[in-house]
Amino acid sequence: MRKIVMVAALASCGAAMAITDAEIEALIGKMTVEEKVGQLVQLASAGKADGPLSEDATGVALPADVAETVRKGGVGSLIGACGVANFNAFQRIAMNEARVKIPLMVGHDMIHGVMTQAPIPLALSCAWDEKLWYDCGRLIAVETPAKGCNWTFAPMVDMCRDSRWGRIAEGPGQDPYLGGKMGAALVKGIQSRAGALPVAACLKHFAAYGGAEAGRDYNTVEMSESTFRNVYLPPFEDGVRAGALTVMPAFNTLNGVPCSVNKWLLTDILRGHLGFEGFTISDWEGVKECEFDRHGMAETHAGLAVLALAAGMDQDMMSGLYQRELVQLIQDGKVPMSEIDRSVRNILKVKNALGLWENPYIDEAKLASQIDLAAHARLARAIAAKCCVLLKNDNSVLPLEKGARVALVGPGAEDCDSISGTWSAYIENRFEMTLPEGLRGAGVDFTYTPCYDWKKGSVDSDALAAAAAKADVVVAIFGQRGTESGEGWSVLDVALPKVQVEALDALKATGKPVVALLMNGRPLAIPELAEKADAVLEAWCPGTSGGGAIADVLTGKVNPEGRLTTEFPVATGQLPLYYNRLRTGRPTEVSAQYLSCYRDGPFRALYPFGYGLSYTTFAYANEKATVADGTLTLEADVTNTGRVAGVETVQAYTRQMVGVESRPVRELRAWRKVPLAPGETQHVVLNIPVAQLSYWAKDRLVPAAGPMRAWITSDSVSGKTLEFRL
Ligand code: GLC
Repeated sequence: MRKIVMVAALASCGAAMAITDAEIEALIGKMTVEEKVGQLVQLASAGKADGPLSEDATGVALPADVAETVRKGGVGSLIGACGVANFNAFQRIAMNEARVKIPLMVGHDMIHGVMTQAPIPLALSCAWDEKLWYDCGRLIAVETPAKGCNWTFAPMVDMCRDSRWGRIAEGPGQDPYLGGKMGAALVKGIQSRAGALPVAACLKHFAAYGGAEAGRDYNTVEMSESTFRNVYLPPFEDGVRAGALTVMPAFNTLNGVPCSVNKWLLTDILRGHLGFEGFTISDWEGVKECEFDRHGMAETHAGLAVLALAAGMDQDMMSGLYQRELVQLIQDGKVPMSEIDRSVRNILKVKNALGLWENPYIDEAKLASQIDLAAHARLARAIAAKCCVLLKNDNSVLPLEKGARVALVGPGAEDCDSISGTWSAYIENRFEMTLPEGLRGAGVDFTYTPCYDWKKGSVDSDALAAAAAKADVVVAIFGQRGTESGEGWSVLDVALPKVQVEALDALKATGKPVVALLMNGRPLAIPELAEKADAVLEAWCPGTSGGGAIADVLTGKVNPEGRLTTEFPVATGQLPLYYNRLRTGRPTEVSAQYLSCYRDGPFRALYPFGYGLSYTTFAYANEKATVADGTLTLEADVTNTGRVAGVETVQAYTRQMVGVESRPVRELRAWRKVPLAPGETQHVVLNIPVAQLSYWAKDRLVPAAGPMRAWITSDSVSGKTLEFRL
């Protein structure tokens, strides 16, 4: 698979290879040791914040220290959006003043948009829509060069089963099959060359970062090789196969060895097993975090540099450790030149795949013609509406009746940072982003009275009662400030804060229908909403035009079609919580002694993986499973039994009943989104290669065999059980 992968990468960039492999080798042969080490170094594009500036020939003022380092060939890439003028000015120094002409890459975190923010990735995953994911990647490809970058540290494809971990917001949920499809589509969109300069994607964080013990960020990761290969690795394999040009190792240890210095992971698995041929970029000072009094992998920084380079860590983000240590280590014969050349070669090949020798500069005219923020806002709005998940809708309280008087209450309705969520540093496109703007634009008759905060203080009961009294229905915001998920945002408890539960009780007491509008970056424990609200709509952090998107769903202009890609717990104590769990030797369904259950609460998720409602209803009939010619075929008649058009996400799951290791109770194998008019029936056929059902038992790939079960259904807990043998 090795050669196919790099060719795929180049094809995905569509780059005309400006220099040949032979010319790359000649370049490496010409480079001094200092210039080679320079390629393995990433520095901040802003340089020393208070440092002097130096004007380049065109009058662009650059951080003098960075400009000088580029001039000496001492840096391979920069981090931080430096703007188009600075990008081109740095590039002119690299291509016209440095001794060896090697173009720069400039990267940062454009995770779910740039000036225009799509919903956070966890929300995007709930769309179950590969074209939508590709379109998000393409939006990043078009807007990233406008900020003076040609590299984004995205997509993050970390599986996560524990919503105490704040970075669950950044990823594609908990299923490897869906997560892999989403990561691959984002890679293809990001590397589509749709913008003024090709942009490189970066799969992160390699690997198993989302498995941090107790959901505590940067914490230890311990798991069997089987779980690693069956759950956490597949999304990276799909991303490599999609042509991702770079990979970022994770901060955590994996079974005792930090990823940044883990040779089994960075060389045997990433290159040997997955066939990756781009380059690895450390996470922020990730190599340095392996030092004496942190991960404790070497007594000196020189020792760390030897370890990291030997493991396959190509470029060092921001720690300066490679920059300080490698030249002397080479001169002392402690680092073989072959390892240096290997990493330099990986980096130069990626720069060539981006066509940077052919065209190193951002074309400002082309940029201006491509950035249509109004069109991007419309795209973001359509995407955000598709990511909403309807969790409850008693008595069809949604969609809102035309002309209904609405009392909007709760926090964050006008807080764009919260609505956009984590990694939104470059957002500018805020068209109809707030809820009042969205509701107003949709012609809804509403008042907005905050009445309570996300978590502090108490409920303004008088204002709440007064607002509800004048309304036919209350739309109340619950959840978390969108900026309180993401990196460094692990929490002890995912329950609703006390003040929100008090607000819910006060709203219930008014007797008016209550629509709970969830805005959050992680699955929360929301049993109170499930019990007391009449409807619950999960809107996540919806991004640009998020207010408009929510209005489109609340008014019924858009029929919600999102389905969960994680599980919502009843209580934090259930975490980690995931649908594709192994069976146990004891039953789990009832709460009694000597069973695998909790004595003080339910075992099952409040809302399971794959779940989501619609403004219409769907029914399944004539479900069937057949196997022929190496293909498992699952089919069913799916009918829209309601009064409005809707989209059903038909899901296919299998279960291996007997394995060389215990196997999950269900595993997602395929899905299809099926639009249906009221009363319409479609015969849906999902074909799954039997080979796809193979599983890893440690490092052995075992074909599926023996008695099997399957479901073709609407979520991970429902459906008729179909039996078959392989
Ligand atoms: C952060 C994150 C990583 C990000 C990098 C650069 O610490 O872990 O996801 O890409 O630093 O900002």
